[in-house]
Amino acid sequence: MKKLLALALSLLLLISFAACSTDEGSSENGDSQNDDGQELSAVDQIKQSGKLRLGTSADYPPFEYHMDVDGQDTIVGFDIELGKLIAEELGVELEITDMAFDALLISLQEGKFDLVAAGVTYDPARYGLFSDPYYVEGQAVLIRTEDLDTYTTAESLSGCTVGAQKGTVQAELAANMAQDVTCLELVKFPDLVTELKQDKIEAIVVDYVVAEDYLTAHDDLAISDIVLEDGQVNKCVVAQEGNQDLIDVVNSVIAQGLADGSFDTLMQQAKENAQYEKPKS
Ligand code: ARG
Repeated sequence: MKKLLALALSLLLLISFAACSTDEGSSENGDSQNDDGQELSAVDQIKQSGKLRLGTSADYPPFEYHMDVDGQDTIVGFDIELGKLIAEELGVELEITDMAFDALLISLQEGKFDLVAAGVTYDPARYGLFSDPYYVEGQAVLIRTEDLDTYTTAESLSGCTVGAQKGTVQAELAANMAQDVTCLELVKFPDLVTELKQDKIEAIVVDYVVAEDYLTAHDDLAISDIVLEDGQVNKCVVAQEGNQDLIDVVNSVIAQGLADGSFDTLMQQAKENAQYEKPKS
């Protein structure tokens, strides 16, 4: 009888231990696996965590920039509105991380965020799964207004120093636009504008809509007649490679926004706010 009781007791212990260890297993893997131990899809993981982690580089109006909203420093711009729409579609909160542009795609690869929205130009050489384009426009060559008659072709910048943001497609374009061009690559875009205004560089290669934004506040700057034929025009959202389900959601938000005209309105608003915000110096 005693033996039977001991057996029953140890069986009971065994069962509860087993139950306990399964519990532990599922909570440990709760982030990326479902109860059957299968990998959760990117979309399911985001829904489970309740937040969409978006990486950006908030130095690039009207795509993304800092603005004082009710006395609080806030990151705003077209890409942020796009991020909000994607988060809304997924039914989760939007969490924004701001960092240097040249670190964004590496950080995405490391899993620091789910998506990057930073006016990123599609480039097959880059890491990531790219969405359909949400904005299509090429480059501008930003110069000082006084040089408008001097720099009229790419060749006219031969031997000059041309600026571009570090890690951008423009850095490569600038370096190759003419013979003996030295490309000054800086981490933050506004620092290039300062260099240009202080006569330290002769031009900046930048996305057209960003150049236009700077013109509104700086009379001494102008967009040159130089046309860079490069095909680098599509701005896309980027996800980790393999996360097709997430890019499908992003693409459906993009298709909707382009079709109903709401993206035009959002871009217009982002441009107007950026002008208002820019110091008029
Ligand atoms: N479109 C360019 C590229 O993808 C520059 C983007 C810079 N974006 C930014 N948020 N600073 O290379």
